[in-house]
Amino acid sequence: MKEQALLWFAFALVGSVTGQISYTIAEEMQRGSLVGKIAQDLGLETKRFISGKARIYTRDSGEFIELNRERGVLLVRERIDREALCKQTMPCALHFQIILENPMEFYTVTVQITDINDNAPTFERERIEFKISESAVIGAKFVLERAVDLDVGTNDLQRYELKPTDNFALKVHSNTGGNKNVEMVLQKPLDREKQDQISLVLTAVDGGEPQMTGTMLIAITVLDANDNAPVFTQQTYKATVIENSSKGTVVATVTASDADQGSYGKITYSITNTLDDVRKVFEINKETGEVTLIGNVDFEESRDFQINLRAIDDGGLTDSCKLVVDVQDVNDNMPEINIMSKSNIISEDANLNTVVTMINVEDKDTGSNGKLQCFLDETIPFTLKPSTSSFYSLVTDSYLDREKSFEYNITVTCADEGVPSLSSSVTLTLQISDVNDNAPVFERSSYEAYIVENNTPGLSIFTVKATDADWNQNSRVSYILEDSSVNGVPVSSYVSVSVDSGVIHAVRSFDYEQIKDFQFRVKAQDGGSPPLSSNVTVKILIQDQNDNPPQVLYPVQTGGSVVAEMVPRSADVGYLVTKVVAVDVDSGQNAWLSYKLQKSTDRALFEVGLQNGEIRTIRQVTDKDAVKQRLTVIVEDNGQPSRSATVIVNVAVADSFPEVLSEFTDFTHDKEYNDNLTFYLVLALAVVSFLFITCLVVIISVKIYRWRQSRILYHSNLPVIPYYPPRYSDTMGTGTLPHVYNYEVCRTTDSRKSDCKFGRAGSQNVLIMDHSSTGTMQRIQSEKSILDEPDSPLEVSITFLSLFWSISKNVILTCSDFSD
Ligand SMILES: *[C@@H]1O[C@H](CO)[C@@H](O)[C@H](O)[C@H]1NC(C)=O
Ligand SMILES: *[C@@H]1O[C@H](CO)[C@@H](O)[C@H](O)[C@H]1NC(C)=O
Repeated sequence: MKEQALLWFAFALVGSVTGQISYTIAEEMQRGSLVGKIAQDLGLETKRFISGKARIYTRDSGEFIELNRERGVLLVRERIDREALCKQTMPCALHFQIILENPMEFYTVTVQITDINDNAPTFERERIEFKISESAVIGAKFVLERAVDLDVGTNDLQRYELKPTDNFALKVHSNTGGNKNVEMVLQKPLDREKQDQISLVLTAVDGGEPQMTGTMLIAITVLDANDNAPVFTQQTYKATVIENSSKGTVVATVTASDADQGSYGKITYSITNTLDDVRKVFEINKETGEVTLIGNVDFEESRDFQINLRAIDDGGLTDSCKLVVDVQDVNDNMPEINIMSKSNIISEDANLNTVVTMINVEDKDTGSNGKLQCFLDETIPFTLKPSTSSFYSLVTDSYLDREKSFEYNITVTCADEGVPSLSSSVTLTLQISDVNDNAPVFERSSYEAYIVENNTPGLSIFTVKATDADWNQNSRVSYILEDSSVNGVPVSSYVSVSVDSGVIHAVRSFDYEQIKDFQFRVKAQDGGSPPLSSNVTVKILIQDQNDNPPQVLYPVQTGGSVVAEMVPRSADVGYLVTKVVAVDVDSGQNAWLSYKLQKSTDRALFEVGLQNGEIRTIRQVTDKDAVKQRLTVIVEDNGQPSRSATVIVNVAVADSFPEVLSEFTDFTHDKEYNDNLTFYLVLALAVVSFLFITCLVVIISVKIYRWRQSRILYHSNLPVIPYYPPRYSDTMGTGTLPHVYNYEVCRTTDSRKSDCKFGRAGSQNVLIMDHSSTGTMQRIQSEKSILDEPDSPLEVSITFLSLFWSISKNVILTCSDFSD
């Protein structure tokens, strides 16, 4: 600096006579620093300065410089800042005058201030921020702030530097005002997803020595652009769901990510299936990607679902994936049993292994859930035979017997092997049809029946009964009398059997005194084809009735003769006069006879032995006793009611026969009585003769009349004993009665009486069939026979005949009495 100042001084000396001097100093010099030796440079003595009271005169330049008179030098009085003094003006100089008195002189002094690099470039802000979209194109410009350096010249701002330079380059260009514009130019695309914040440092450098710099931080926020599509974490997801899971069950959660930020990174999920009904079954939470059930999943309907999923961000970019949902089977289907064909009825003689029903079983479940076992639940004579996997045939496995069980309820149960197992069952009702395999069985191995003699023909004796275990026609039992003979007579003339009911009827009236018992066989035959039969022995025992009165054998009762027992007058007490002998053809009690004295001339004289019929005296016979004694003895049997016979015993109490004879002549006859009787008899004979002739005439005329009638209408043989319809007797000939059986029997119990009674009480139908006539005539008859009708001419004539016969008999008897 000194050399420079001196150089300037030399130039001043040469150039100015008026004494102009110039110095150059650097700014920022310390106080007291020497500016220049002014006295010496002006060629003056320091004494002159002192005597001349040299001083600095200035108008505006302040007090930066001071004058030391004693030494004759200029010194820095105050620190000089060029930048403050001159700003950016160049050159920068202080101008002042040095004034001397005695003589007045002045000298102009210029002190030029040179710059030193004491200021660094500075930015107005330490940090600026930019927000730049990552989609910004290359070449995009961003204007930066300029830096300022107070220094001038080379010390002023020279250049800028930007670091790092990965994405941006710096471009500085001067504009018209000489200012430098600083710009940042995008050279490489930004990627928010790699770096979302970029920090750059802009450095301003000056040209001083030493160099000084100023920096500014550029903070760049990279703004997002929708440059990334969502991406699913897997292309295919797999999930399983148990069928019948409840609604709301979470099946799977899918996730997609989007590198973008904000709404460009916000993903919305959806199901894109359109044709199938996946969307009715599944739903996806559009925010979380959780797939849930909203419908029912049925393994039997679909075993898996292919769900197409889409993720979309708000910028419209998408990704898709597939979710495969496998449905797991649950044992939720019961086995199904289908009857393919069945017979409702099977014959009881069906062979073993006869197929009754074909069954098809199914279970919609799979695996063991659909594996079926079928069985019958009872001990019935059937078994299930598997034919192929799902077919069974129900066959008989033992012989059937309708009589044991006429119907079976066969329950087929099928169960699957799931846990828990499901089962279902079906019941078939099978009827067993009948085969005629059972013969009728009589209730007893043999029968014994009793009938009281003198029964009415047609009386039902009793009933045999046989049952047949078969059914319907096969069990319909018919009873048939087997042909045999009793005492040389066909049994059918004794009894008949009702085909339907098994009632055994007596055909005739039995007489115990003729036949006491007989036996025959009845066959029971069913209606099967061929019929089965069995037979049983029936024994009929005829029971005695007290139908015979005792018969007195002794004393013999002859019509007109008089027999008398002789009792000597000397007879003692207990003298056996005679013995009444009687018999009774009945048996038992009915033949047990007792004897009683009914009437007697002298009751005190005789008695009759109750048991033996002996007549004895009970007191001494005296002379006063009549010769003629008449005893009436009644013989009674012990039947119920009892029957009796009386016998008259004439006893003559006399010692000689003539005595007896004289007494007995008027013993029997009465003259007056006989006269009257003769008259009546003659009269009666005359009347009867007349009536007899009249009757004959009537009978003949009636006969002719009826014969003519029968020629016109029909010919009937009345009475018929017994009557069998021809169709029956032709085929069987055993005397078994047909289903509808009517007969009529006429019997005569007495010569004077003739009546006709019908068998089977209550039945009043008489079927009269005529061999010669094609027609059948049925007449309703009242209880009385036609013979009893009062207006029947035949009846009238028979009555008259009977009467006539009776009277004639009496007359004859009486006459025989007379003749003796
Ligand atoms: C079979 O079932 C029917 C109806 O349920 C019933 O009336 C009948 O008595 C049953 N038969 C047998 C033999 O159990
Ligand atoms: C009657 O049955 C027996 C067996 O009880 C049989 O031996 C006999 O032959 C049968 N008689 C007739 C005529 O059928």
